Amino acid sequence: MHKNIAVIPGDGIGPEVMKQALKVLKHIGNTFNHQFNLSECLAGGAAIDRDGIPLPSETLEICKNADAVLLGALGGPKWDHLDGKNRPERALLILRKELELFANLRPAILFPALKDACPLKPSLVENGMNLMVVRELTGGIYFGDQEKLKDSNGKEAAYDTMYYHEDEIRRIAKIAFEMALKRKKKVLSVDKANVLESSRLWRKIMIEVAADYPGVTLEHMYIDNAAMQLIRDPNQFDVIATGNMFGDILSDEASMITGSIGLLPSASLDANQKGMFEPIHGSAPDIAGQGKANPLAMILSTAMMLKASFDLSEEADRIEKAVEHVLNSGYRTEDIYSEGTTLVSTESMGERVLDAVNSM
Ligand code: IPM
Ligand code: MG
Repeated sequence: MHKNIAVIPGDGIGPEVMKQALKVLKHIGNTFNHQFNLSECLAGGAAIDRDGIPLPSETLEICKNADAVLLGALGGPKWDHLDGKNRPERALLILRKELELFANLRPAILFPALKDACPLKPSLVENGMNLMVVRELTGGIYFGDQEKLKDSNGKEAAYDTMYYHEDEIRRIAKIAFEMALKRKKKVLSVDKANVLESSRLWRKIMIEVAADYPGVTLEHMYIDNAAMQLIRDPNQFDVIATGNMFGDILSDEASMITGSIGLLPSASLDANQKGMFEPIHGSAPDIAGQGKANPLAMILSTAMMLKASFDLSEEADRIEKAVEHVLNSGYRTEDIYSEGTTLVSTESMGERVLDAVNSM
């Protein structure tokens, strides 16, 4: 198989974790005889430093023409003083919008070997956790009208708008129901329908789409309750379908239950399975360049790319099993380290995964 992959290492720990993921990807390519052509490009802080803008047009072109995009992480304190339109994160939002990556899939799985790294009481995760956040990614408050204003006394004000069109809700609802069919056949739609008009529409459309999936149960929960339920009984969830901002928040919360945000991959897909794959963690500038970052989320994002965009399930499984094997063997980066396990660097975690992939 021949595939063109745009690679955006990004800022902070992005380049470090990307290096490990590419090592694994290249190995998979050689083993299974696929040709992965990698085109590295700049976005975020790295692009601001070179070109003065977060997303150079050349990067956007490469990403549009690629079969998939791999992204490390964007942003950092160095660029925090910039205004909204010029911040590194802007690159991410433009890429999502321009590539029409409306479906953000964020699986959160608690590996048995990592139960000690989970901050919840052991009794709460006895039966593990395996949920999938299906987050709408190109609408909602992230993309509605926004403005900074001054009142007549010169005092500042600002607003953002949460807007959802029924078509936007319908297409993400379908993704969630299709996903549930492959899992435990449960969709939980999370909204704030007791307060927000956009949430009442969200709920109505969810119910309409549910009628086409009689085998799947649909339930609803308000976002505040969902955030609470997630730490009360994480095992009650299967597929969580929600809007852009609620999904952003819930997926960080879910990640912590798995032991570390450094473990969770994500896929952002368009209507044709083309996508951008990135860890859900940020650029972690505080640990950048120290060999402390956990490369597993980036490595698992690569596996998601193989499966979701290229339909290479066997190759993806190989990577996922290798990661599980390395964790079962007791190797840990700092974020998931606990007594009795073996602390390793970013680089050496990548090596372990490579060895495991190799020996399978
Ligand atoms: C994420 C991140 C982004 C988001 C930021 C960096 C813009 O938090 O992918 O979850 O809010 O979507
Ligand atoms: Mg987030």
